[in-house]
Amino acid sequence: MIEDLIEKNRSYRRFYQNTEVNIETLRELVNLARLSASAANKQPLKYVLSSDSKKNADIFQNLAWAGYLKDWEGPKEGERPAAYIVILGDKNIAQSFGCDHGIAAQSILIGATEKGLGGCMIGSVRRNELSQVLALSDHYEILLVIALGKPKETVVIEPMPSDGNFKYWRDEEGVHHVPKRALDEIILDQGIHKGE
Ligand SMILES: Cc1cc2nc3c(=O)[nH]c(=O)nc-3n(C[C@H](O)[C@H](O)[C@H](O)COP(=O)(O)O)c2cc1C
Repeated sequence: MIEDLIEKNRSYRRFYQNTEVNIETLRELVNLARLSASAANKQPLKYVLSSDSKKNADIFQNLAWAGYLKDWEGPKEGERPAAYIVILGDKNIAQSFGCDHGIAAQSILIGATEKGLGGCMIGSVRRNELSQVLALSDHYEILLVIALGKPKETVVIEPMPSDGNFKYWRDEEGVHHVPKRALDEIILDQGIHKGE
């Protein structure tokens, strides 16, 4: 069921680092992005894959993790992502990329979830440094990095508290809690005619 898959598709930030995610799996995930919607069908997104420990380490050092967890600096060695998909915008094809990369990222992560994997979209990226590390030409813009692996943490969805605090938190057992707004809060118009 798609609802189960989407519920299971949480942002995971700790992984079994030694459980490999091979390049063929990453290619299958990018294929899901390839088949997804793209504004004006320009398809300006390009991808860099990594499942090699040295390249993974180079990528990792340019990412920022879970800004609300102030006393956590990100996954420690052994719990880091086993693979990455870096989503690039090709400026030779388009000057802006709209929400194409969000759609692509969601397709990739839903596919990863179906395969028993998990991941996290990372937008907080040291882009200049990562561009250098990946030896990217100037016409590629780094849009998002997707960290992937076999999740080593439990993430649960919580109702939004009454004070409206949307920050995720981690409890003493290390379980990660993510508040989500209620359906009735986000649907402004139910489409029911209120005429006389
Ligand atoms: C565009 C985008 C950028 C994000 N960037 C980061 C990031 O830089 N670092 C991080 O740890 N999480 C990042 N996240 C993950 C969000 O924090 C996460 O989606 C949110 O806390 C809700 O959790 P959920 O994905 O489990 O629903 C990003 C998510 C999106 C959609």
